Formats: sequence, C-alpha cells, structure tokens
Amino acid sequence: MEDIKIEIAEILEKAVDFKVSKEDILEKIEVPKDKQNGDFSYPCFNLAKILKNSPVSIANDIKDKIILNSKISKVEVVNGYLNFYLNSLDIASNVLKSILSENEKYGKMSIGNGENIIVEYSSPNIAKPFHLGHFRNTVLGSALYNMYNELGYNVIGINHLGDWGRQFGLLIEGYRRFSSEYDINNDPLGVLSDIYVRINKLAKEDENIMDIARDNFKKLEEGDSKLHEMWEFFREVSLKEYNRIYEILGCRFDSYNGEAFYSDKMDEVVEILDKKGVLVDSQGAKVVNVGDDIPPCIVLKSNGSTIYATRDLAAILYRVRTYDFTKCIYITATDQILHFRQIFEAAKHLIDEKYQKGLIHISYGMVRLKSGKMSTREGTVIYINDLIKEAIEKAKNIIISKNPNLEDIDTISKQIGVGALIFNYLKTSKIKDIVFDLDETLRFDGETGPYVQYTYVRSKSILEKAKFDRKNTDIDFSLLNTKQEIELIKALSRLPEIIKKAADEYEPAILTRYLVEVATLFSRFYNECSVLVEDEKLKNARCSLVYATSIVIKRGLKILGIECPEKM
Ligand code: ARG
Repeated sequence: MEDIKIEIAEILEKAVDFKVSKEDILEKIEVPKDKQNGDFSYPCFNLAKILKNSPVSIANDIKDKIILNSKISKVEVVNGYLNFYLNSLDIASNVLKSILSENEKYGKMSIGNGENIIVEYSSPNIAKPFHLGHFRNTVLGSALYNMYNELGYNVIGINHLGDWGRQFGLLIEGYRRFSSEYDINNDPLGVLSDIYVRINKLAKEDENIMDIARDNFKKLEEGDSKLHEMWEFFREVSLKEYNRIYEILGCRFDSYNGEAFYSDKMDEVVEILDKKGVLVDSQGAKVVNVGDDIPPCIVLKSNGSTIYATRDLAAILYRVRTYDFTKCIYITATDQILHFRQIFEAAKHLIDEKYQKGLIHISYGMVRLKSGKMSTREGTVIYINDLIKEAIEKAKNIIISKNPNLEDIDTISKQIGVGALIFNYLKTSKIKDIVFDLDETLRFDGETGPYVQYTYVRSKSILEKAKFDRKNTDIDFSLLNTKQEIELIKALSRLPEIIKKAADEYEPAILTRYLVEVATLFSRFYNECSVLVEDEKLKNARCSLVYATSIVIKRGLKILGIECPEKM
C-alpha cells in the first residue's frame, strides 16, 4: 500500500503544479478512520495559504485535474479533504502478493539507512529486586528497540544501570554487619534490599553510620580493592537476576555501561562547562542555569562530589563520541521529566546541535495492582518474578482445562503467560497509569495477548486442515471480493505504516491495538466466508488470506516481544 500512497502523492504533486513537494504531500496523506471516507485522504487546508483559495475550492480544482489510474477507482471531495478510493481487486493482489513473497520480512523497511539509534531502557538500580515499574520500562524499551530495527536503523540497547553513588557506601556497611544472618544465595536481591532497609534505619538512629558510609564510598571511588570486590559482587548478583528476566522477555542489550562506568569521565564535563563559563556558584554548589522556568542543573554539590546528573552528562558526551547517534532515547517514569529537561539543556554546552536534537526522553505512567494480594515486602515492592510465575501458572491451568492433551504444555504456558503480561503493559498508552489485573490480562477474548495469539493458532489450524501449499503461486486473488475479505486485506496492508507510526510516536500501543483490530477482522472474515470449501480455487485464495494474516500477527507480536505458540 505504501507504493500506492506514493503514487497518489505523485498525482497530487502534478495536480498542484509542483507548488508543494511530493514528500510534503506524502507526510499529510492520512488513512481515514471511517472506511466510508475512502482508503486515503489528503487534507487541503495547508494549501489555502499557498494557492490563495479556500480548501474546498482547492480540493475541487485538484479533483478535476486528477487523472485516475487503474489502481484508484474514484476521488471525492468532502469538506476540504480529497478522499481516494482504491480499486479493491488491485489491493488484494498487491497486498497479498507482497506478504506471501516477503513472508517473515514483511514490514521490514530501510528508512533508517543503518543510522545509529540508542534506546536506553530498563536501567534498574542494582541490589534491588525488579518491580512492576521496571517491567513497564523494559517491555516499552524492548518494543521500541525492535521497531527501530524493522525501520532499518542500527539499534543500540543500553542498560544504564544505577550502580554508583553514596548508597553503595551504606550498603557495604550493612553487608558487613548483617550478611552473616542470611543465605545470600537464596534470593540475593531480596537479601540485599533487606540489608539496605535495615542499615538505613540504623543510620537514622546513629549518625556515625552515615560518616562510615561516606568514607566507604570515598574509598570505593579511590579504587580500594576490598570494597571494589564487594561492589562488584552486588553488581554481579543483580545482573544475574535481571538477566533471567531479560531472557524470559527476550530483550536485548548491547551495553550495560551504567553510572559507575562514567565515574572517571566526569572531570572532563566539569572542565568543559567551566571553560565555557557556564558553571556558576549557587550556595556553594556548581550549577548550570537551564532556563527561567526550571531549577538549575547541579553538576557538583557543595562538598565537591558529583551526582546522578553529572554522570548523565558524561554519558551523553561519551555516547556522541562512541555511537554518533541520530537519536538517543531515554525511557523512565514520569518522575524524571524535570531531570531530563535539565540535563538536555545543560548538554547544549557539551555537544553539537545535531546531537542535541536527537536527545529524547520518553516517560510512562504508574503501575498499580487491582488486587493487592501479590507478595509485597515493604508494602510497596511487587516482585516481577512472582508475577511472571503466577501468570505462567494461571495460563497453564487455563490451557489444560481447554485442551488437556496438548503437548509441551510448559513452553506454551510460558508463551501465553509472559505474552499476556507484555501485551497488557503495551496496550495502554504509555503516559496513562495501568491498573493491573492478572485475570483480565489472561482472558482469551477482548484486547488481550492470548486473544491475538489464539487468532494465530486458529489460522495455523485452518491452513493445516486445508493442506495449504504456500509455495503455490497460482492464486486468483480476484475471488477475494467480499466486504470482510477486503477489510481484512486492507488492514494487513497497514503493518509497515503502523510500525513506522508507532516508532515515530514512541508508542507501541499503536501496534498492540492494530493487532487486536486484525484479529477482530479475521474473526469476522472467518465467520462470514467459509475457507474449507469444495472449490479449490476459492479455497486457495481464502487460504492465502488466512496465511497472510498469520504472518502479520506473528510479525507484530514478535516486534512487541511476544512469542506465538503453534498450538494452544
Ligand atoms: N536508574 C534510574 C532509576 O531507576 C533510571 C536511569 C535512567 N537513565 C538515565 N540515563 N538517567 O530511577
């Protein structure tokens, strides 16, 4: 469909005597929400100024000038819009031919030209268990990573671990005092966070502890080998736990350079800012003023020590030099919006404009549980491990009750349980809060992962029953002419455009909702049009549509980070 869209843009470019460029037109062409308004629509409002006429008369003028080709059946003017209706016979064969030939590559694009895009995501603070919020961050980042890959970018996934700062001086002290009371091998992150809570409490009662912690961190910074060993141990056990989760979620990181990595790279930042004269004193601290409406970005505290923001500035400089990025995307909860505004402003003194424009912060809303019954320790932390286990267990019970003879139930329950979680997280627009309800998430109907996976499984079983040979190229696509067939085909044609839109808007929910739409249209088609019919030609044509649907669903889910079971 992308080709037809380009053709329409070319036709329009000619019709307006090249007063607007093809690229400009292409950007404005929309897919109308209501199918009544055609397959593509071009708003003429922005032409009013250029052509000095009202949008409606412009639209009418253009319509008169347009020479239709065989792919477009008609053009209509509605309130300043030009609506294009495509020839459905043509659509069917164009779309299905390309899906059938491109197969699992359908929707791959080369827009990115191999340019580098950094997706920085997950980035937990080590020595603490993964909670519901981290999970949202991780699945969002992973989906964006995959989308940019589809667009032809070279994507670099960075896990900017929170592995540095004074709290490690405190944790070291706690570990010294309390670790003998625990079995660290059993739930290491639970133990470490427990110890951290205890030593924090103690520090509130005993001032000396804070002094010791400060001293510990100072020694750590200076490279004390004993303390460094301890810190490394904390990092290692944390990563081991996190990697287990990353593996279940299928997400990729190309670098785990976290805050500690920048501990020796901050002097240069301070130096550059100082030389430029933008580092100013503020109550003893060194800050960069970043605008009248927000507080300054603190670079050095009054005791001369660096902070979170200083490490982020060093990271920006390092990433520009190492990755020469087109975009560097950061994903965090909304509570860091101010932090990123401050460092992006301060970074203007460190990097060229072209890189400044590529710095992007994406934030997401909170996650709460509907039923508060999941295991919590501090009354706040919900362990993602427990949630994943429970989701898989519940998925298993559901599929056993539906299909007790299924083989390899463990793999399938994992695909469904984990897939349901990911899908549920990604279907909500990122900025909205999520109220999480596991039972709802695992339903086999409605806007859920299992519903979409089930559509895939159903399509597979239809193809198996029909003994469909996908290598057969002798298919008469003109037989696919019912309303349900045409609507499904049009929806399938939109996968590439949906991936692009979701990536442009940093919003995987666009893809998630699209897959629900495809699944629903597939159901409608399957209810109205029998596939397993006597007539071989019709059966083949319809099977090709079933097959194309299975490809689109599998591709879409994979981009979201969700696997498709072959049976369920
Ligand atoms: N570790 C931080 C946290 O858990 C998130 C890091 C975000 N990335 C960054 N470059 N500051 O809150």
